[in-house]
Amino acid sequence: MSTQLHSLKPFNTFNLDATAANIVIAETAEDLAAAWQKSQRDRQPVLLLGEGSNVLFLEDYQGTALINRIMGIGICESEDSWHLHVGAGENWHKLVQYTLEKGLAGLENLAMIPGCVGSSPIQNIGAYGVELKHVCEYVDILDLTSGKTQRLTAQDCQFGYRDSVFKHDYRTGYAIIAVGLVLRKAWVPVITYGDLVRLDAETVTPQQIFDAVCHMRSSKLPDPKIAGNAGSFFKNPLVSAQQATLLKTDFPDAPLYPQQDGNVKLAAGWLIDRCDLKGFTIGGAAVHRQQALVLINQQDATGGDIVALAHEVRQRVGAKFNVWLEPEVRFIGALGEKDAVGVIA
Ligand code: FAD
Ligand code: EPU
Repeated sequence: MSTQLHSLKPFNTFNLDATAANIVIAETAEDLAAAWQKSQRDRQPVLLLGEGSNVLFLEDYQGTALINRIMGIGICESEDSWHLHVGAGENWHKLVQYTLEKGLAGLENLAMIPGCVGSSPIQNIGAYGVELKHVCEYVDILDLTSGKTQRLTAQDCQFGYRDSVFKHDYRTGYAIIAVGLVLRKAWVPVITYGDLVRLDAETVTPQQIFDAVCHMRSSKLPDPKIAGNAGSFFKNPLVSAQQATLLKTDFPDAPLYPQQDGNVKLAAGWLIDRCDLKGFTIGGAAVHRQQALVLINQQDATGGDIVALAHEVRQRVGAKFNVWLEPEVRFIGALGEKDAVGVIA
């Protein structure tokens, strides 16, 4: 375990110049529990972080940022599947590459999603027709107060769209320390989304899907090293079938994604785009020109600039469509997480 200087810039993909009172890199579950317990004794708040690709620092953080770097990948085989046990601090994209190099298919649609493996169950990461829930077997968590570990089955995780039990019952006082994944040997390609539909289901390989996903992502999503961002800033909103029908009447080209429960998911990027907000800036923050759902740190933005821009985007979309966007990104204030909708309302 090591203690570092206090800039959070290397630990948030918005590249915001925030600081923490203390930064601790944890390489074991014992490190995590020790740092947590010390902070409890010192009455200091603790913020668990992976790679900071889904957080927005509103101001300097007054507590300890506890960076999870528990590493290690174990693979075992059963008759029909490969089972992976992955340390929470492993990088997600490197894991995807590693599995493909080993000839294990199933993660290719989730290529190039930034962040740690340990963060992947929290919002049930998803892209191009696949979500973590499709490959998750279990999640190991650490009760930071007692130091005891517990294994949750995929069902216990209550995965939903950008949602899981880790945003609710296990939101504070627990750290994810490992994730179990299951990849079926009988691989079924998922080629229903975007440019993937052009691929031939009979001949396509996992590598071709990986390459196509990387190509699509690189052409739309900004590289955080060049323009700080946290991916989609807002979630795609879910509305009733009735509201979706009304929208389609007024805007026949609106993309609609009907859900199993009868509700309809709308494309937040399309709604923002239709308000002509691509390239719109406030301070150093801007709406990305290639993907309106992504807010970027264009030039030395502050957390306040991003909040002001998110507020304006939400108001304009709400005024035009009567649909009120909710952030996907987690907002971190001086003492901990804040209600993101409340901050931008
Ligand atoms: P962080 O941002 O570090 O943390 C996220 C939250 O989890 C915080 O609240 C933190 O306190 C908590 N946390 C972190 N680690 C732990 C732990 N070990 N135990 C308990 N709590 C913890 N997401 C998608 O779903 N699909 C996409 O296609 C996608 N594309 C993206 C593209 C770009 C360019 C970027 C920047 C982001 C994108 N994202 C996407 C969002 C992001 O990659 C995911 O949310 C990712 O899982 C976050 O991982 P992280 O390690 O950076 O988490
Ligand atoms: N669209 C526009 N203009 C835009 C952006 C999008 O018209 O500026 C339209 C597109 O043409 C398309 C629809 O909106 O018809 C959806 O766009 P896209 O396929 O780019 O996906 P998205 O809904 O914007 C979601 C996820 C992404 C994920 C992609 C691919 C959410 C909030 N976002 O984006 O996840 O990578 O699908 O599956 O669900 C993230 O969560 O950070 C993230 C990047």
